[in-house]
Amino acid sequence: MFRGVTKVFKILFFIIFKKNNFFRNYLLTPEYFKKISQLSKENHYDLVDFLQNITNLDNSFLQYYSSQPFNSQIKRTEIITSILETYKPEVILETGTFLGSTTEYLSGYAKKVITIERSELYYLVAAARLQKFSNVKLLKENSSLFIQNQKFGDELHFFYLDAHWGDYLPLQDELEQIFKMRNFIICIDDFKVPDGQDWGYDTYGKKELSIENFQFIKSKSVFFPNYNLNDETGGKRGSVFIASEGISREVLSSQKNLSEYLID
Ligand SMILES: C[S@@+](CC[C@H](N)C(=O)[O-])C[C@H]1O[C@@H](n2cnc3c(N)ncnc32)[C@H](O)[C@@H]1O
Repeated sequence: MFRGVTKVFKILFFIIFKKNNFFRNYLLTPEYFKKISQLSKENHYDLVDFLQNITNLDNSFLQYYSSQPFNSQIKRTEIITSILETYKPEVILETGTFLGSTTEYLSGYAKKVITIERSELYYLVAAARLQKFSNVKLLKENSSLFIQNQKFGDELHFFYLDAHWGDYLPLQDELEQIFKMRNFIICIDDFKVPDGQDWGYDTYGKKELSIENFQFIKSKSVFFPNYNLNDETGGKRGSVFIASEGISREVLSSQKNLSEYLID
């Protein structure tokens, strides 16, 4: 009984005083609230007790909401800002929205920003956060299916490929489709940087995200970060940048913090 009353007080406190917390939108917008109640009734793989998130914000995944783009990596953010300011893409496409931290940043750099999230839970969270950005289109889908069904034009496209965490890694299928395009720059997060430093990277089963396992990317221009890991902040995750020929390659070549991977 006492615990129940405390919980109600905590929720009321949250609703009245946490006006800057986007999660409050869920409770106050009937449409979102209905979706959340529905989600918590289904036996969904990412089922989360949303009320638990309110009363226990310190341990909630929602705390990551305040994190910065690109795993809070300042140097990576500087590189991508420089690329986007020079390249001026028409379209930016992000795979794996999660809570929308990177999407929010990307929304400032193109007229059209598409972000794709497979998880219903993260989709709902990101939807509330991103609703104020009219140039952002958030889709709840498997990113590789979306990319494979697209007919991309010749406009300049920037891709941030970050749809990880599942058993199935969509990267190979996504890259094969993007490589058919004329004008693109891609950044893949969590990719092994072959410079002997301790950058983080992802592994699927026994397959690590590395150039050895994705040899076919060598058919395009490939660039890696060339700076000292100590100069990076946040998650210190590795990355790779890939470009089509022409302006896309020129933009990457002009980045002082990237070096082209030369095939021997
Ligand atoms: C590393 S997080 C993305 C982080 C986000 N890009 C950022 O910078 O804040 C990976 C996300 O990809 C999503 N995901 C995994 N596989 C996916 C797929 N095949 N299609 C779409 N989203 C996927 C996960 O649910 C998770 O939210």
